Amino acid sequence: MPTTLKQCSIEVLRNLLQEGTRTLALDDEARGILRGWMLQARAGTRGGTPRPLDPVPDSPPSSASAPASGTSALDTVEAKLDYLRARAEHWRPALSLGSLRSTMVFATGNPHARLMLVGEAPGYEEEQQREPFVGRAGRKLNEILRAMGLRREDVYISNICKFRPSMGERQGTSNRPPTEEEIAACLPLVMAEIRAIRPACIVCLGGTAAKGLLGSGASVSSLRGRDFSCQGIPVRVTYHPSYLLRNEALSERRRVWEDMLGVMRMLGMPVSVKQQNYFLPS
Ligand code: URA
Repeated sequence: MPTTLKQCSIEVLRNLLQEGTRTLALDDEARGILRGWMLQARAGTRGGTPRPLDPVPDSPPSSASAPASGTSALDTVEAKLDYLRARAEHWRPALSLGSLRSTMVFATGNPHARLMLVGEAPGYEEEQQREPFVGRAGRKLNEILRAMGLRREDVYISNICKFRPSMGERQGTSNRPPTEEEIAACLPLVMAEIRAIRPACIVCLGGTAAKGLLGSGASVSSLRGRDFSCQGIPVRVTYHPSYLLRNEALSERRRVWEDMLGVMRMLGMPVSVKQQNYFLPS
């Protein structure tokens, strides 16, 4: 007898399959949930025990914190993010894995931004300052934003994993990308952030963010320039800023820049001739 939402969904899908259904129309939210289960199951088959994926409710369980006026305590984006930040601080699905460090690094920037950028996971400096993208990769990201005519305060910057992946005794200032299990554990938080912010466009900075938001393990080079969506919001994929730190070639900088020109056009931002020609060989 199925008891959880996951078991019920699997039962329904199995029945549909037996009845011959081969395709199904799903909205982005349902796709996101299935993607989380898939990542979790894939991680589970590699030795971990699959854990229940906690959905993040968009409001506190009790109405005790609602103001007397009868309006919800979470009417504003800021209130929703404060609530999510507090939930993330002690996010059991991630912390109970035992493979992530305990300092939570949430997000930074403008809750009303039209552009949301999603990176991988906090590193050494982000953990120290409890803010995403403040180290070398962050400075590179700031440069890219500046070239677009934007400041950090104009956009919303988050990570697919809210905790710095642990490397045990070898840690020091070293970092590693999050595993699929770690990504899946944090995914409900990121999905809830997207529901709160509702940006006009989301950019996945690197393959790890794309794996979480799009469920695709494909290379960044094959995902770039293509239109995806998450919760009905257009998603683009580009290289992680740290890729440009490793590879400063003009051609690579141009590739990222072309991705960002595409994002600017999608957002209806003006593109000057000078901007159009950045990083082209002279
Ligand atoms: N790299 C990321 O993906 N995120 C950060 O916050 C810092 C570096």
